[in-house]
Amino acid sequence: MSKPNIKSLDMMKFTAMVPTREEKIAAAPAKKLPELKSYKANELAAALHPTVQHLVVAEVIDAAPDVKTFVLKADAEAGTKSLAYFSAGQYLSLSLKIGESTITRPYSLSSSPQEALEGKYMLTIKRAGEGLVSNFILDNWKVGEKVTASAPLGVFTYELLRDAGTVIGLAGGSGITPFRSLAKAIADGDEDAKLILLYGSRTLEDAVFQAEFKELEKSCDKFKLVNVLSDAEAEGCEHGFITADLIKKYAPADEDYSIFMCGPQAMYNFADKEIATLGIRRKFVRHELFGEYRNPEKDADFPKGKEGKYTLSVKMAGKEFTIPCTSEESLLVAMERAGIAAPAQCRSGICGYCHSQLLKGDVYVPKSVDGRRLADLQFGYIHPCITFPVSDVSIDVPPARTV
Ligand SMILES: Cc1cc2nc3c(=O)[nH]c(=O)nc-3n(C[C@H](O)[C@H](O)[C@H](O)COP(=O)(O)OP(=O)(O)OC[C@H]3O[C@@H](n4cnc5c(N)ncnc54)[C@H](O)[C@@H]3O)c2cc1C
Ligand code: FES
Repeated sequence: MSKPNIKSLDMMKFTAMVPTREEKIAAAPAKKLPELKSYKANELAAALHPTVQHLVVAEVIDAAPDVKTFVLKADAEAGTKSLAYFSAGQYLSLSLKIGESTITRPYSLSSSPQEALEGKYMLTIKRAGEGLVSNFILDNWKVGEKVTASAPLGVFTYELLRDAGTVIGLAGGSGITPFRSLAKAIADGDEDAKLILLYGSRTLEDAVFQAEFKELEKSCDKFKLVNVLSDAEAEGCEHGFITADLIKKYAPADEDYSIFMCGPQAMYNFADKEIATLGIRRKFVRHELFGEYRNPEKDADFPKGKEGKYTLSVKMAGKEFTIPCTSEESLLVAMERAGIAAPAQCRSGICGYCHSQLLKGDVYVPKSVDGRRLADLQFGYIHPCITFPVSDVSIDVPPARTV
């Protein structure tokens, strides 16, 4: 029997909240609040939405070649008594000091919300080629390692009011992590949805959580796994890429379904075109881009002849820095390389946390990840995490408020 949580509450009860509160206020004696060091409501708010979470690695599990799962617990010694609750699909923004740079990276929680209530988070991290942070974590994190993380963040979550009853999950590579969380949340009764997971990997050996997914399939009739192997053939698996035909094969024929897609940019470039042919309503297609925007210079609309090295001037917290940058890397990466701890969470243009003002210069922002509002465009605001310089540039950056 799962523990109650906010998603299993009867939402209609909330409609009576305002009149009930007004009645209670009217009936309360008109006396001053006792002067306490802290109030319960504030303590609860801080536990649910901490600005920072101090965690410690409790276990390291080899999940597949070059993939490890890190089990994290609250680090009471450092000031975090319990883990913040979350919705399946959310991520933590980790803050790490590597050399002279303070760098953040988002990692989805692969554990379920129930597991957070039991005192553990899990992050499953894949080595990304020459990748700076993934390699650092896989090579250095051992049991006892202290980790600084944000509260759970992100909107890649299932919402009853918006999403269809059946979710077709499209996972590529490490993009499988939020789906483990969602599958477990469904099995625990914390999410009321059906999940059909099309999991793309090169071979079956590269696919993580296999034994666990098979067990979940047996115990929960709302979850189905389909392995889609690009470089191998295996019994019971599909071969090739995740195409529109493959989605149609597993999706319900006579009712709406939502598509949740999570994986690297290469997967999006292919799958987006396939999904467009299905004629699904826009609100039923959800994305989480796993990783930074790559190779902007290869985009058809990248300003011709503007590839090159430039100078970036940064105003931040009353200080000014002048640093090198290149059209190949985002303004955020240029700042991190120079040791400037600029604000960042999702690093993919979604959360708006890095929102900064462009004071001077020309930049390129890829259309597919440009989530700015009209007012941002009008008043010259940018998201440095997905903005690439095409001249010398000057920006005003707010200081990082949290990790
Ligand atoms: C919401 C979200 C959830 C994610 N969840 C997961 C997950 O569950 N599991 C997982 O494995 N991955 C996940 N990712 C991807 C993850 O955040 C990283 O992108 C991935 O681990 C690769 O990071 P990396 O630093 O190893 O490699 P890269 O991103 O390739 O790192 C290189 C980047 O750092 C820059 N760089 C190089 N040297 C320096 C330097 N000295 N200083 C500063 N910058 C430098 C490079 O230009 C490049 O942009 C998620 C991404 C998102 C957006
Ligand atoms: S860090 Fe989220 S939009 Fe830039």
